[in-house]
Amino acid sequence: MLNTYFKSSDKNFYLLHGDTMKLLPEFEHKFDMVFADPPYFLSNDGLSIQSGKIVSVNKGTWDKSQGFDYLNDFNRQWLSLVRDKMKDDATIWISGTMHNIFSVGQILTELGFKILNVITWEKTNPPPNFSCRYFTYSTEQIIWARKNEKIPHYFNYELMKQLNNDKQMKDVWKLPAIAHWEKTCGKHPTQKPLSVLTRLILASTKPNAWILDPFTGSSTTGIAANLVNRRFLGIDQEETFLNISQNRKIEIENPKIAEFYKNKIADFINTRRLTEFLDNEKANETIKVVLGFCQAKEIKKLNCTNKFYFHAIENKNTIRDFPINLFDAKRLILYSGGRSKPIKLNGFYGEISSITLKHKSDIEGKSNSKTEFYYEVTLAQNFIESIDLKFTLNTKKLFEKIDDINLKLFQQYLPAITTWERVIEANIQ
Ligand SMILES: C[S@@+](CC[C@H](N)C(=O)[O-])C[C@H]1O[C@@H](n2cnc3c(N)ncnc32)[C@H](O)[C@@H]1O
Repeated sequence: MLNTYFKSSDKNFYLLHGDTMKLLPEFEHKFDMVFADPPYFLSNDGLSIQSGKIVSVNKGTWDKSQGFDYLNDFNRQWLSLVRDKMKDDATIWISGTMHNIFSVGQILTELGFKILNVITWEKTNPPPNFSCRYFTYSTEQIIWARKNEKIPHYFNYELMKQLNNDKQMKDVWKLPAIAHWEKTCGKHPTQKPLSVLTRLILASTKPNAWILDPFTGSSTTGIAANLVNRRFLGIDQEETFLNISQNRKIEIENPKIAEFYKNKIADFINTRRLTEFLDNEKANETIKVVLGFCQAKEIKKLNCTNKFYFHAIENKNTIRDFPINLFDAKRLILYSGGRSKPIKLNGFYGEISSITLKHKSDIEGKSNSKTEFYYEVTLAQNFIESIDLKFTLNTKKLFEKIDDINLKLFQQYLPAITTWERVIEANIQ
């Protein structure tokens, strides 16, 4: 019987106490993302400098160096157990240094994961090198891999680009090392900064995703996850660390403290506030979108109009209904192509302010049309052109989890409904 060490009142934060190798096989749940900061096994009695003082590099008995075979066996065991707990499209992030990262990389490949990136986290404020015989150690590596070679993963490319002054985010992340304000609930010797965890969670998960940390320590992963509306389960064998984790979660149940931490996340300082982003993310998830077909020769005209027309007549001159619930759609997105050409978004979209049924005589330029009635979609402003909405569509993805009726309408070039999230996911790279 699995005992939960701690379950938060909002049921978004769970902690298990014990050996991760024993606990992982004991439950069935599958996760959307895993972050693991396993022992680096670097506690070899060496010395370092911290806040101007000479200190031992030893972190605890769990981190004692025990040789390469032990390291490989350890990594193989936990990685294969964690892989079983991942959804097919899930990804895993593993942090490390030269002490363990080569072993982790090799075993990931051996177990069938596909490595997506190796992030170099460059600490903007590293401790100086004590011996003066090496370059200052200022980086850690974080490997990002997906469970399955063939099953696509989620990546919020757009957000990462926005956070990087509208340029593609690189695999070198300059983010500060752990700061004092993150240690209010006690000290863990290898606590990760919230800014690193928030970035990787937002890059690879959607709201409400389930995140697992099999070596949770003070649960930075869980705190970052909950701050950005994701759910969390963490495992650690040391009760002292679970206690810090629990107190950190209780601390952010106070909205003022949660807000304080959100304002400290490096990516969102001096840009836009994280809270605003999260509200948008939630809204965008379910923004209802109408897809409209636009002939290639008509695209040029879109720059200076806020109107779009759908035929409202069936073959036998009956008024065609818009797809169910169309009238509360928020956004119109146009696509072109078809028949022998690939179906592509052509970059034009707009926020809908009204949709009305109109006779051709009431529409400028349509009085001679063969079609008697149209649905006139009026946008809040003229069409916006975005290069990020120019891509070939995977039409099946576009309506996945919506319904088949809309897929059929779309295949006949009729107005069809989906969500903004689906549109972004239907991008064929
Ligand atoms: C590098 S620390 C993680 C620190 C964490 N990322 C944080 O921000 O606080 C690794 C943690 O794994 C735990 N650990 C090591 N071996 C374990 C095992 N077999 N089962 C459960 N926990 C383990 C240690 O107690 C330690 O807290």
